[in-house]
Amino acid sequence: MSPPPTPTLLLFLLLLPLLLIGPSTALDRPGRWELLQRSIGVSAMHMQLMPNDRVIIFDRTDFGPSNLSLPSGQCRRDDNDTALKLDCTAHSAEYDVPSNSFRPLTILTDTWCSSASLDPDGRLVQTGGFNDGDRAVRFFRACAPERACDWEELPLALAARRWYATNQILPDGRAVIVGGRRQFNYEFYPKSSGAEGTYRLPFLQETMSASEDNLYPFVHLNVDGNLFIFANNRAILLDYSSNMVVKSFPRMPGEDPRNYPSSGSSVLMPLNGSSAAEAEVLICGGARAGAYEEALKKKTYLRALITCGRLRISDASPAWAMEEMPTARVMGDMVLMPNGKEVLIVNGAAEGTAGWELARSPVMAPVMYRFDNGGSSGSRFSVFGGSDVPRMYHSTAVLLRDGRVLVGGSNPHVNYNFYGVLFPTELSLEAFSPPYLDRSLCDERPTIVESPQEVGHGRRFSVGFTVRDGSSLTVRGTVSVTVVAPGFATHALAMNQRVVVLDVVGTASVKRRRGRKDLADGAAYDVEVVAPANGKVAPAGYYMLFLVNGDLPSEGVWVRITNS
Ligand SMILES: *[C@@H]1O[C@H](CO)[C@@H](O)[C@H](O)[C@H]1NC(C)=O
Ligand SMILES: *[C@@H]1O[C@H](CO)[C@@H](O)[C@H](O)[C@H]1NC(C)=O
Ligand SMILES: *[C@@H]1O[C@H](CO)[C@@H](O)[C@H](O)[C@H]1NC(C)=O
Repeated sequence: MSPPPTPTLLLFLLLLPLLLIGPSTALDRPGRWELLQRSIGVSAMHMQLMPNDRVIIFDRTDFGPSNLSLPSGQCRRDDNDTALKLDCTAHSAEYDVPSNSFRPLTILTDTWCSSASLDPDGRLVQTGGFNDGDRAVRFFRACAPERACDWEELPLALAARRWYATNQILPDGRAVIVGGRRQFNYEFYPKSSGAEGTYRLPFLQETMSASEDNLYPFVHLNVDGNLFIFANNRAILLDYSSNMVVKSFPRMPGEDPRNYPSSGSSVLMPLNGSSAAEAEVLICGGARAGAYEEALKKKTYLRALITCGRLRISDASPAWAMEEMPTARVMGDMVLMPNGKEVLIVNGAAEGTAGWELARSPVMAPVMYRFDNGGSSGSRFSVFGGSDVPRMYHSTAVLLRDGRVLVGGSNPHVNYNFYGVLFPTELSLEAFSPPYLDRSLCDERPTIVESPQEVGHGRRFSVGFTVRDGSSLTVRGTVSVTVVAPGFATHALAMNQRVVVLDVVGTASVKRRRGRKDLADGAAYDVEVVAPANGKVAPAGYYMLFLVNGDLPSEGVWVRITNS
């Protein structure tokens, strides 16, 4: 038995994390990790939160056996499968957040490195993949908990093969599918007519490097209705309806690529206001130019990029503003926070690149970036306590309605590989709780008690909420309401992720609820807000709505935003 630590030693141990990280990035806000499932049997290469609080998870059908059997004793026979001709295991699962349980789903065609979006009905429309799945469109409709819904597949619904493409849901409810390996074009789904094919996009050819550093292009719907498309280290604004490039942005400083396999991450920053006319993009991390070749040919793992770039894409002549993260990171996942003020960067590595076994030095600690902290480089970041599970290539993270971040995946190997490798295939799911979920803040965290299930673009509506400590509303100063579109996460990119901070009606932002009794758990208030003005600000579909006290978000509620 070792002697009990002395008080000085204890103090030293308590301060050790601070000493290691340095005072500028103190662990002032620890956050909390929990292991939800040691194994769900499938590695979470792709994840989408559905409007019924279930998460659709899948990897690829040619990974060999997974650790989960297909439902009801089925097997998949595929003579063209590159791994197993007869596979009785599942490569997709549904994780139910409230009950922390999962079940296998049936995917038959190959979904490897594919893309997806939710349509206005909340149906997952998932596109492409590899081999027999590269032109497939697959659907998953969220169904009532007691019903066991499953995938539907149309093997040949796309006009071109889409492997490493990016999807964006559009104001008219269609998805645009941009690029993919050796595809210098885009297409729409559903098609406007049976004959509709692809539209040329030479930009994707111009930005291709030897290691194809322009895959999974970063695509964001701008508030003017055009598409912001970033590939390698360049970006354009595309009017997809006339197939015209309406603007070319300055090259991102540093000349390093940011897209797969360089795998930085990108978000459209929260839009300020229901009729937001300004938009800004934040791109963080990635691998240095040449990192892929160095890792592949020489087993040298270059330090990842430490910079982020911010670009106001709605400005007439925007310029990149560069800043530094506390640590270099490639394959980080950026998850927009429900308070509309922050983005979490989690997962990934500090050396190497995306690709099979090409990264080293996992970065275990997530960092938070605050959009509005004025001033000097780095001051916008805080660092949290780390998980003890490396999340390397093929890991993912998505925001849950309860405010936690679901983290899964990591499989840098060509099959499931658990033994004798640096970073074994990860089948676990963890949740990260950002500091706003700290128990000490319970009395100040609001609870939504009334909100519409459906609201049309531009309509006023009111949100009723309670808060135990009513004085915190005054202390924290502002009450805001946000809507958050759940993103489709894969390869360090959450497609369609979008946050709008709604306009509050009137000068007094909150009112005591009239003619209604306060609820047992606190005083009740109403705030009146305006839904996003149109589909350019927020395409019709399902959003999580949060009431935010200062910067503390409530648990979310689902709201369907419609065109009428
Ligand atoms: C998955 O299955 C393999 C082979 O049966 C086994 O060795 C491994 O421990 C399992 N892993 C998990 C996390 O269940
Ligand atoms: C295998 O691939 C060939 C050639 O593409 C195709 O004709 C055949 O239908 C495929 N078989 C299966 C079982 O998918
Ligand atoms: C929205 O507001 C935040 C916080 O004030 C600010 O940092 C950001 O630049 C604004 N976004 C745009 C596009 O103006």
